[in-house]
Amino acid sequence: MNRGSVLDEKVHCIADLEAAATLTLPPMVRDFYAGGSMDLKTLGENKSSFDRYRLRPRFLRDVTSVDPSTTCLGSRTSFPLGLSPAANHCLAHPDGERASSAAASKRGINMALSMWSNCSLEDVIAQSDAQGRATSYAQNLTIVKDRSINLAIMRRAERAGYKALFISVDCPWLGRRLNEFRNTFSLPEHLGFPNVPGIDPHNMVTADERVAYDASLLWEHVAWLKSQTKLQIWLKGILTAEDASNAVAAGADGIIVSNHGGRQLDGVLATIDALPEIVEAVRGRIPVHMDGGIRRGSDIFKALALGADYCWVGRVPLWGLAYNGQDGVSLALNILYDEFRLVMALMGCRSVEEISQEHLALLHGDGRFHRIATYPWKKWSQGIGADKPSSNSRPSSSSSSSSSSSLTSPNSNATHVMPAAPATLRSNPTSVDDGMVAKSRL
Ligand SMILES: Cc1cc2nc3c(=O)[nH]c(=O)nc-3n(C[C@H](O)[C@H](O)[C@H](O)COP(=O)(O)O)c2cc1C
Repeated sequence: MNRGSVLDEKVHCIADLEAAATLTLPPMVRDFYAGGSMDLKTLGENKSSFDRYRLRPRFLRDVTSVDPSTTCLGSRTSFPLGLSPAANHCLAHPDGERASSAAASKRGINMALSMWSNCSLEDVIAQSDAQGRATSYAQNLTIVKDRSINLAIMRRAERAGYKALFISVDCPWLGRRLNEFRNTFSLPEHLGFPNVPGIDPHNMVTADERVAYDASLLWEHVAWLKSQTKLQIWLKGILTAEDASNAVAAGADGIIVSNHGGRQLDGVLATIDALPEIVEAVRGRIPVHMDGGIRRGSDIFKALALGADYCWVGRVPLWGLAYNGQDGVSLALNILYDEFRLVMALMGCRSVEEISQEHLALLHGDGRFHRIATYPWKKWSQGIGADKPSSNSRPSSSSSSSSSSSLTSPNSNATHVMPAAPATLRSNPTSVDDGMVAKSRL
C-alpha cells in the first residue's frame, strides 16, 4: 500500500517522540541525553544544517517497487540506518541496551554498543541471536589509560560475534558538558558498566586513573589496534578530509563522520557539512558512514546523496526507550524506515544505489539554492541532469577512481572533464565542492 499509516496514536515523527520521551525523563537524564558541550552550537547545527540542502525529485520513473535495503558490516540491512553507540540506555528504561538491540534486530538493522553500556556486550548481541536475525554488531571503544581494559573488551567482543570495533578518536579529553555540571550528573546506584568490570561506576571521574581517556594516542596506534584483533577497525569521529586520508593510510576499515552528537568540541562542523570533503578524500577506498542530527527519513536520504554509505542515530533510540521500552525503539525505527522509503519513492529512486548528489540543491550565500558539484571521481557524473545508469552508480567500498572525471561548478551547468589523478595523488585531492575548496594535507 503506497499510503502512510499511523504507527502510534501520539507519535508520528521523531520530533513527537522526543517531546513525549522528554515528559517521562527526570531532568538530569533528559539533559544528559539531549544535551551537548558548551553552547550547543554544533548540536543545533547537526540538525539545522540538513535544511540548507533541498531535494531535487525526479518523476515518471516507475517507483512501484522501492528497495531501501543496503549492506553494512557484511549484513544486508533493511535500510541504511543503525544505532550509534550511546552510554547508559538503562537511564531511559530498565531493559536498556538489550531492548534497543532487540528492536534493531527486529527492524533488520545494525547496532554499535557503547563501552559504557549498562548491559553486557554478550547480553546485547544475544537479543539478536534469539530472534535469528542476521544483523551485525560493532563494539565501541574509547581507549583508556589501562589498555588491558580495552583488550579485555576486544576479546569478549570477538568471542560474542561482534564484527567491528568503532574506536572513538574524538575524545582524548571529555567535552565540557555543562548540563552534567549543573545537574551533578551521576549514575544511580543500581546501574553499572558490565563491560568494564572492576571499576567503581559511581566515582569514575576522580577515583580511577585506569579508565581516564588515553590522550596520548597517535595514528600509529591504529596499526597497533589492527595487530591485536581480527575485528574490523573503524574510526568514529572523523571530521576533516585530512584525517580521512590519514585513516585510509593507517589501514582503517571504515570511518564514521561524527562529532559525538555535539558532545565533544562545540563549534566543530555539523557532520552533514563535514561529509562532502571526507567522501571526496576517501574516494570509495573504505566505507564512509555518518551520524549526527538525523531525525527524518529525508536526512538519511541527504546524507546518502552526499556520499555516505550508511547512517547511525544516537539519541533517537534513547527517546524510543524512554517512551515505551523496546516497542518505543521499534516505533522510532519504523517511523524512520517508512519516511526513508517514502522519500526514495518521491525522489524517483528505486534503490539506494540510485541516490546521488544530483538529487540535492544547496543554499548559497546569494540566498538561492544551487545544484551541487558532483564528485570529480564519479564516472557517472558526466553531466548534471543526465540519467545515470541504474546499477553500480554508487561506488562500492572497494571501487577505484574513474579514468576520467567531471567537475561541475555549483553556479553553472558547465561540466569540465578532468583527467584522473595519478594514484599517488588520489589521497590528496584539491577540488571545488559546494563552492568551498577542499584540500587534503596528509
Ligand atoms: C547519551 C549519549 C551517550 C553517548 N555515548 C557515546 C559513547 O559511549 N561513545 C561514542 O563514541 N559516542 C557516544 N555518543 C555519541 C553517539 O555515538 C553519536 O555520535 C551521536 O549521538 C549522534 O548524534 P545524534 O544523537 O544526533 O544521532 C553518545 C551520545 C549520546 C546522546
